[in-house]
Amino acid sequence: MNQYVIAIDQGTTSSRAIIFDHSGNIVSSGQMEHEQIFPQAGWVEHNPAEIWNNTREVIGSALSKANLTRHDIAAVGITNQRETAVVWDKTTGEAVYNAIVWQDTRTQSIVDELSKDGGPERFKQKVGLPLATYFSGTKIKWILDNVDGARAKAEAGDLVFGNTDSWVLWNLTGGVDGGVHVTDVTNASRTMFMDLDTLSWDEEILGIFGVPLSMMPAIKSSSEVYGAVHTSQLLREVPVAGILGDQQAATFGQAAFEAGEAKNTYGTGCFLIFNTGEEIIHSKNGLLTTVGYKLGDAPTHYALEGSIAVTGSLIQWLRDNLGLISSAPEVETLAASVEDNGGVYIVPAFSGLFAPYWRSDARGAIVGLTRFVNKNHIARAALESTAFQTREVLDAVNADSGVPLTELKVDGGMVANDALMQFQADILGVPVIRPKVVETTALGAAYAAGLAVGFWKDLGELSANWSEDKRWEPQLDQPEQDRQMRLWKKAVTKSMDWVD
Ligand code: G3P
Repeated sequence: MNQYVIAIDQGTTSSRAIIFDHSGNIVSSGQMEHEQIFPQAGWVEHNPAEIWNNTREVIGSALSKANLTRHDIAAVGITNQRETAVVWDKTTGEAVYNAIVWQDTRTQSIVDELSKDGGPERFKQKVGLPLATYFSGTKIKWILDNVDGARAKAEAGDLVFGNTDSWVLWNLTGGVDGGVHVTDVTNASRTMFMDLDTLSWDEEILGIFGVPLSMMPAIKSSSEVYGAVHTSQLLREVPVAGILGDQQAATFGQAAFEAGEAKNTYGTGCFLIFNTGEEIIHSKNGLLTTVGYKLGDAPTHYALEGSIAVTGSLIQWLRDNLGLISSAPEVETLAASVEDNGGVYIVPAFSGLFAPYWRSDARGAIVGLTRFVNKNHIARAALESTAFQTREVLDAVNADSGVPLTELKVDGGMVANDALMQFQADILGVPVIRPKVVETTALGAAYAAGLAVGFWKDLGELSANWSEDKRWEPQLDQPEQDRQMRLWKKAVTKSMDWVD
């Protein structure tokens, strides 16, 4: 009875359910991709109904693959792509518009307008974030301003907002039949509306954006019982007891619980999180200040974050838009077949550039092309761009903290790529370490949920579950490392100011 915890990982490209045992090992999982909708250049949407249907499906397949039922599950944890905004009508359960995804840049004019008074850092001291298209706030405003009748319904109290954690939780706990409208502090810290100090919605900023407070979910800790799964669902009556945004979940799953610990996750984008303990540190080097985790009534842990919008999605772009490769792993084979990048640098500024530049006017650039260059060099440059971007955010973390990181824990899909991880260590000049369980995002959410119901007793027990699988030591000499970084930074300058 109750020997497992299930985590729902509602990510950018797919939704997954993973069942973990007490040692943090994966017992079974289910996964379904959802459609990426690109209505026009710079717009990225998901269908919220598809996401919820897929979530239900993957829960079913994870349970049935391991031959388990709800009676075996102690708790449900939720982790999610952050910032992606869903606005739905709580009286019908229907979203009024597709989810506007974190990568979407349609709200640039809203950002520009709001920046006129006080610049892009206008709210940064309070919420830890610069004004940028990335965060949920401008996306909610866009929906209220552009969807017929939305503002009136919002003002009447019928519309509610959530990142996909809240959307999944509300549906899981009953939807129109008493669904719980809640988010956790980590997701709330990505909206632009949460005061980092008080952990509550800031009515002044909501007012400036024109977003009614009644739309916002209640802010809870990352680890407590929010409600029970509705009786209509497979997991009926199991407590939902943990929520963490996916990057914070990965940090938690890496057992990086203390100040000074960090991890980098290689997914569609790359997100380096550096735990600053109970201290709110404001970056002077282009990092975000965000909430790391909060367990029940215990003190809040904060973090600095270096967000990179495009890493794995560049490989998908090579596959889907250019047809350069037929499957993502093929990129490694191509890259390995040449000695170097042939002088090519790719700056994948598809959503502008995030950390440390925060330049939404940047656009992707491929520089250094000669007649010599072939697709293998392009593949290699694509992989290398992930490592260069990570080096830039690590430099920012080191500058902000004053204490250089001596190693980097990594996770996410791309860490299976040996050549990339070696190049990452080379270009950082510090060892890169991969844990045995690389599904740290789902694991972190499972941990948060399991702690709340006593399935795990404390953080010490979780730390004991972490073990190293592989370590890459830096091998590149300093002059070559410096030369590569010099060229990379030069390439970045070419991607700036491209918008007409
Ligand atoms: O901030 C966006 C991030 O949460 C998305 O993560 O892993 O779904 O690409 P991922």
